Amino acid sequence: MATWSAPGKVFLFGEHAVVYGKPGVAMAIKPRVAVTVRKSRNPPHARSPYIEECFRSTGVQGSVYIRSQLPSSSGLGSSAAVTAATLAAISEEFNLGFTREEVAERAYAIEKKVQKGRASPTDTYVTTFGGIVLITGDSKRRLPPQNFHLIIGNSLVSHSTSKMVEHVAQERQRNPEIINPILDAIGAVTMKAIKSMNKPQQLGQCMDVNHALLDAIGVGHPALSKLVLTARATGAFGAKITGAGGGGCMVALCPKHAKSRVAGAMDATGARSIITTIDTEGIRRE
Ligand code: PMV
Repeated sequence: MATWSAPGKVFLFGEHAVVYGKPGVAMAIKPRVAVTVRKSRNPPHARSPYIEECFRSTGVQGSVYIRSQLPSSSGLGSSAAVTAATLAAISEEFNLGFTREEVAERAYAIEKKVQKGRASPTDTYVTTFGGIVLITGDSKRRLPPQNFHLIIGNSLVSHSTSKMVEHVAQERQRNPEIINPILDAIGAVTMKAIKSMNKPQQLGQCMDVNHALLDAIGVGHPALSKLVLTARATGAFGAKITGAGGGGCMVALCPKHAKSRVAGAMDATGARSIITTIDTEGIRRE
């Protein structure tokens, strides 16, 4: 029997613009998914397609038990975390000797297959290695870890990443002279943010600008706007949509002392908040 866990993730900057080769920053966050794998000749059926694909691609058979602190389908990378943790547990249980790089690559291949080509390597890379990662095109660079106090607000409004990506693509086709400069500006905000990582006030301002630009390309939602405004009004340095938008989650950067006030105010709008911080470990043997 082998148990491995993997963290969730948030986009701190640059979502959507990364699809067009601009820089983006994602960070692994504390809530984790733990997966136990046990050799078995008669594994139960009706598991998630991600788990099915982990077994199929490695050619082994086993049973799986999952415990998750991460809400699924909310843009916090739960499918990537389940996939990476399952692969790491399979590797241990069946002595396959996967390196971290192999886990990240295999997890990405599985996400791509299950999601029919629509996957970015961001989630699988971040959940496997942990920490903060700068993504530009195909390249990924780990940035120095920062002890951010983050509040994630799950709007509980369902959304679809592929639909939001499609929406931006259509807007860009219709109005390239408007949308392209906004995507460039998102990239510029990301670069500015990287230089301000240890200055929370400035970083918060960068988040606010990034949020406005995401709204401008049409991936906002009234529930997300309400959460962002509530977070700022109750003491956050800054707040923005995280991930695909149109529903799903936002993230606020807070001073330590304001965490519970901000989270409480966000919950009072009908959302579900998660107080969290960086995860620097990535996949971990339990
Ligand atoms: O909602 P999430 O975490 O899956 O984020 C999507 C981020 C996008 O930039 C919109 C798409 C992508 O593949 O990078």
